[in-house]
This record gives sequence, C-alpha cells and structure tokens, in this order.
Amino acid sequence: MPDSITITDNRTGESVELPIVDGGVEATEWRKLLPNIWFYDEALMTTAMTQSAITYLDGDAGILRYRGYPIEQLAEQSTYLEVAYLLLHGELPTEAQYEAWTHDITYHTYIHENVRKRFLEGFHYDAHPMGMLVSAMAALSTFYPEAKEIFDQDIRQKQIVRLIAKMPTLAAACHRFSVGMPFVYPDNTLSFAENFLSMMNKVAEPHYQADPRLSRALDLLFILHADHEQNCGTTAMRTVGSAHADPYIAASAAAAALYGPRHGGANEQVIHMLNEIGSIDNVEAFVKSVKDGSGGRLQGFGHRVYKNYDPRAKIIKQTADDVFAITGKSPLLDIALKLEDIALSDEYFTSRKLYPNVDFYSGLIYQALGFPIEMFTVLFAIPRTAGWLAHWEEQLEQDAKIARPRQLYVGVPERSYTPIATR
Ligand SMILES: CC(C)(COP(=O)(O)OP(=O)(O)OC[C@H]1O[C@@H](n2cnc3c(N)ncnc32)[C@H](O)[C@@H]1OP(=O)(O)O)[C@@H](O)C(=O)NCCC(=O)NCCS
Repeated sequence: MPDSITITDNRTGESVELPIVDGGVEATEWRKLLPNIWFYDEALMTTAMTQSAITYLDGDAGILRYRGYPIEQLAEQSTYLEVAYLLLHGELPTEAQYEAWTHDITYHTYIHENVRKRFLEGFHYDAHPMGMLVSAMAALSTFYPEAKEIFDQDIRQKQIVRLIAKMPTLAAACHRFSVGMPFVYPDNTLSFAENFLSMMNKVAEPHYQADPRLSRALDLLFILHADHEQNCGTTAMRTVGSAHADPYIAASAAAAALYGPRHGGANEQVIHMLNEIGSIDNVEAFVKSVKDGSGGRLQGFGHRVYKNYDPRAKIIKQTADDVFAITGKSPLLDIALKLEDIALSDEYFTSRKLYPNVDFYSGLIYQALGFPIEMFTVLFAIPRTAGWLAHWEEQLEQDAKIARPRQLYVGVPERSYTPIATR
C-alpha cells in the first residue's frame, strides 16, 4: 500500500496500516488498535469532523466551489436564492423548481407580530443588532415548536424556508429598532435583496425600489457568503445540531460564533482599522506596528485555510469598483489599496501567507451601500443561513453522532476539600 501510513503500538508490537484517502486517514481502525488513546489536536486543526458534499475549498490554490460549481461562475451568473437551493438540494433548480422555491421564500418573509413587539422591542435602545438577531433567531424556536420534529421531512423543509425567508426581516427589524425607525413590512413584489433594502431604507414613499445595480451587488455578496465549509460558525451549527436541537436554536448558536471579531465580525474591525489609520500617509507606520506586534493584527488579512488570495476577496474587489462607480468612492478605499499593496510586497506577510480575505473589502461595500457598521456581521449572517441549514440537514441525513471531543486534562490531581475556616 504505497499511499498509506503504519501505526505501531510499541507497547504490544501490534500495527495497523491505513490508506491515505483524499489527503487524510480514517480514525476507525487506529481507534480499535489504540483504545483510550486520544490525539491532542488544538482547535481541530488537523481533524476532519465530518464528511461533506456541500462546499469544496482548496486554501493553497485559492479555490472555492459550491456543490462543484466554481464561486466565480456562481457570482457572475446566479442569484443568492438559486445558490441557497443549490447548497440545500445539491443541484441547480429547474425553472419550475426555482420559481416554486422563490415563491415559497417570498411568502414566508413575515415574522409573527410578537417576535417584534414583545421580543425585539424589549431590547435596550442601543442594543447591537447582531446581539438582537442571535436572540431573535433562537426565539423563533418558541414560535414554531413543531421545529423539534427534525426527522419529519415536511416539517424540516418548512423551517428551512422560514429561516432563510425571515432572516432579512429580522435583520432589518433589528436595524430599524436600533435607529428608532418604524418597522417596514416585507414587500412580496420585490426580489430577496430588493426586499431587504426596502425594509432597511424605506421612509415615507409608498414603494421603495433600490437601484438594481446596488441590489445586484448585495445579492452577489450574499452568494459569496452563503457557505464556507467547516468554519467556526458552521462547526457550531453542526455541534449544536448533533445534539438534535431544532434548527432555530442551532442556527442562533452558529450566528453567535459568527459574531466574534475573529470570524464574521472582522469586516467591522476592518473599517475601525482603516478609520484609525486615517490617511494613506500613515499606512507604512501602521504596517510596521503590525509587524512589531504593537499595532495588533491587520484586520481582513490571513485565514486558517486560505494560504493564497481568498477567491471571494478577488470578486469583492471588482464589485467594490462597480458600487463606487454609482455611490462615489469611499475615502477609506485608497488606504485599503495602499495597505494591500504594502502588505503583499512585505516579507512578514508573504512568508506567513497572509492575503486579503473576504472581509477586507466587503465592509467598504456595505458602507457605500449605506449600512451602518453594526449591521456588517448581520449582513453576513443572512446568506450564511443557507449554508448552515445545508450542513444541518446533511448531518441529520448522515445520522451523525453527537459531537463530543476529548480533552487533555492539565489541572491538579485529586486533593481533599478543606473547610473554609482552615484555608
Ligand atoms: C483569520 C485568523 C484568525 C487565522 O488565524 P490562524 O490560522 O490561527 O493563524 P495564526 O494566528 O496562527 O497566525 C499565523 C502567523 O501569522 C500572523 N498573523 C495571522 N494573521 C495576521 C494578521 N491579520 N495580521 C498580522 N499577522 C497575522 C500571526 O501573528 C502568526 O505569526 P507568527 O507565526 O510569527 O506567530 C488570523 O489570520 C486573523 O486574526 N486575521 C485577522 C482577522 C480576520 O480578518 N478574520 C477574518 C477571517 S475570514
């Protein structure tokens, strides 16, 4: 067996030869040889926790495909709702399937009045919309108790449609509340992205129609963010889902992970960083401070798996130009371009394979589209819901075991309790 490894238990002399398949080895056989021996793998950096047929990612080559389709082709030719269908069903829809799917999503965009009136409006006036969204997603579980029937196909499909459809409504409701504006009901005559922009921006006009070039740019950003295989949020979805929690609860856990600045919160950090740099004259000094450790990390740079230019960042950079042609250039763009230029020709970044990731330019586009910074991670969560749900469903179909890793205990050995008076 040329493409294999041999594991020998030196205590017994027993060995097992394991084939290397798709770049890895399966644990089942060595687990039998080495019962009760665990492998320490911090943050699961070398452990595949699941098999998945949804997204293919080659971080060294900068390749991303959903169900086999290159992200570049989907970004150019598809729509977010078609991509959501593809992620969930494995195939692109026929015209009739696409029409039925779009109709279903469009007619499930309303949220129960009590979600907004009793729940969302109970938040403090300055609540961060992402905190509100995470809570609202979990709260949906209490409005649809049948969602617990996760093995009933019809019920499961209904919740998938509901969650994808209601995410923009919840997101816009969180935003409107946080800026003191009245809630805008969904408009079924609009596309997914247009409807979201209407719920975000409508004031007194009877019908809000976004510039089609801007709603297309937003839809494209939704496509790029729809899935990214086993990232932190998706792993949270699969971990919570493996306990057979309902999809609202599992997705709220995934969204909670996404909220972190090392994950989906990075686009917000990029704008803070660019604002702090303030001028292209300060870029070189800033890069120096990143390198000597005093300036923190270069936000929007680096990735656990991309050790090459993130293919989504390439597409986003092009989209940024298209959006700025309509909205006017962001004053932060020149700083970002110079930062990228300097970093990509600096040995510190090249030797560590640190390239711009999806968040480096997405924040600038969101800002140009008029979204406040606090909404950036919310804008990521809306489309990622399709990916989370695709993984959740795949896992249920795999009849996956409950996620339960081992730990390496490094605490004190057994000791006796001492009464408080003698401590
Ligand atoms: C994404 C991220 C968390 C991946 O982290 P990781 O795979 O665990 O990589 P590490 O933290 O081990 O970093 C490897 C090396 O690169 C450096 N590095 C990584 N990202 C860096 C960044 N953005 N700026 C400066 N240095 C960075 C680390 O300091 C480390 O250097 P060292 O080997 O001298 O100690 C990390 O690159 C990061 O914090 N990026 C900024 C936040 C961001 O944009 N997140 C969005 C991801 S889509």
